[in-house]
Amino acid sequence: MNILVVDDDKAYLEMIKLVLNGAFDSVKIKLVTNGADAIDICQHDNIDLILLDFYMPKMNGSTVAKLLQHTNKTKEIPIIFVTSSSYSDFEKEGFEIGSVDYISKPIEKNLLINRVALYLTIIHQNKLLQDANYKLEKKVHKVEDQNKMQEQMLIHQSKTSVMGEMIGAIAHQWRQPLNIIATSMINLETKAELDMLDYKEIKRINSKVNSTLQFLSKTIDDFRNFFLSSKVKEKIDMVKVIDSTIELVKTQFTSHNISIEFQFDEEVEYIINGYFNELRQVILNLFANSKDALELRMKKVDDLDGLITIKLNIIDTKLEILICDNGGGIPKDIIKKVFVPYFTTKFVDQGTGIGLYLSKTIIEKLHNGSMNVDSEDDNTCFKILLPMIKI
Ligand SMILES: Nc1ncnc2c1ncn2[C@@H]1O[C@H](COP(=O)(O)OP(=O)(O)OP(=O)(O)O)[C@@H](O)[C@H]1O
Ligand SMILES: [Mg+2]
Repeated sequence: MNILVVDDDKAYLEMIKLVLNGAFDSVKIKLVTNGADAIDICQHDNIDLILLDFYMPKMNGSTVAKLLQHTNKTKEIPIIFVTSSSYSDFEKEGFEIGSVDYISKPIEKNLLINRVALYLTIIHQNKLLQDANYKLEKKVHKVEDQNKMQEQMLIHQSKTSVMGEMIGAIAHQWRQPLNIIATSMINLETKAELDMLDYKEIKRINSKVNSTLQFLSKTIDDFRNFFLSSKVKEKIDMVKVIDSTIELVKTQFTSHNISIEFQFDEEVEYIINGYFNELRQVILNLFANSKDALELRMKKVDDLDGLITIKLNIIDTKLEILICDNGGGIPKDIIKKVFVPYFTTKFVDQGTGIGLYLSKTIIEKLHNGSMNVDSEDDNTCFKILLPMIKI
C-alpha cells in the first residue's frame, strides 16, 4: 500500500517515514513538502492513504483536500490531517471538508502507528470487498446471459412443441380448397370431352382455381408467420392474439364438432406488453389440449357438442384470460402434475407432456404473469393473469 505524507517541515516528514517504515513491512511511503506536489502525485500514482499537514504556507491542507475531492480518482482517498491546532479549531474546518481523522502535533509515535494501522486494515478490507463485488457482478452478468439463452431456447422449444398441431391444422385448412381444385379439374375434363367447353366456362373455372390457390397461399403465410420469433416485447392487443389463433384452428375444430366462443367487451382495450407469437403458441397449446380431451370424451358420450370458451376480464391492473372446455375435466390425482415437464396421459406419438410446462414458463418467465388450472365436473378452466399496460 502507498501512503503519502505531506508536510512543509522536512524534519517531520523524515520522522514519520522512519516510524511508519519501522512499523509496517508492506507499505511504501512517499514524501512531499507542498500541496501542489501532493495533488500531482495523487493523480499519477495509486495512493491509498494521505497524512496531510493542516497548516502549510503556500496551499494549506484544507485546500489540498478540497481539490482532491473534485476528481474521481482521488476523491475516495482517506485523509488523516496532522494538525497542531486544538481539536475544536480543527473540528470547524477539517471534518467539514471530508477528512476522516486527525492526529495532533507533536506526533505521539504509538498513536500514529495505531491510527495508520487501523486505516490500512479498513483500506485492505475495502479492497477485498470491492474485489468480491466485482466477482459477484461478473457472476450476475453470467447468470443473466444464461437466463437470456434459456429464454431463447424456450421460445425455440415452444415452436417445435406446437409444430404437430400446426401441421394438423394446415391439413384441415387445405382439404377443402384442394377438393375444390380437384373438382374444377375434373369438371374441365368432362366438359371438354362433351364438347361443352367455351371460353366463358374456361374463364369461370380458371378464376375459381385462382382464388382457391390464393387462399392456400395466404394460409401458408399465416402459418409461417406463426413460427417467426417475436424479437422484442411490444404492445400487444390480446384480442388479436386470440382471434388470429382461432382463425388458424377453426376449420379443423369445426370438422371435429368443436366450436370456439370468444367473449370480451368491445369497448375495452386489452393491451399488454409481451411477445405476440409466443403468446399465440400458449393459446394454441391450450386449444390443442382441449381438442384432445374433447375427442376422447366424444367417443364415450354420444351427441356431445364440444365447446371451448375464452373470456377476457380486467381485474385491477391485470388481464385475466379464462380458457375453458367441456372435455371431461382433469382427474384430481393428476391435476397437480399437469405443469410438470414431460407429464402426459397421452400415447407417445400423441403427446410429449411439455405443452403446459412451456406455456406456463412463457407466461411466468417472459411475461411476469401466472397460469393455473381448475377442473370441476366435466369442465377444465385454465386461468392466465398478465400485467396490463396503462393507456
Ligand atoms: N383441457 C384439458 N382437459 C383434460 N386434460 C388436460 C387438459 N389439458 C391438459 N390436460 C392433461 O394434462 C397433461 C399435460 O398436458 P401437456 O399439454 O403439458 O402435455 P400433452 O398435451 O400430454 O403433450 P404435448 O402438449 O407436449 O403434446 C395432458 O396429457 C392431459 O392429461
Ligand atoms: Mg398439450
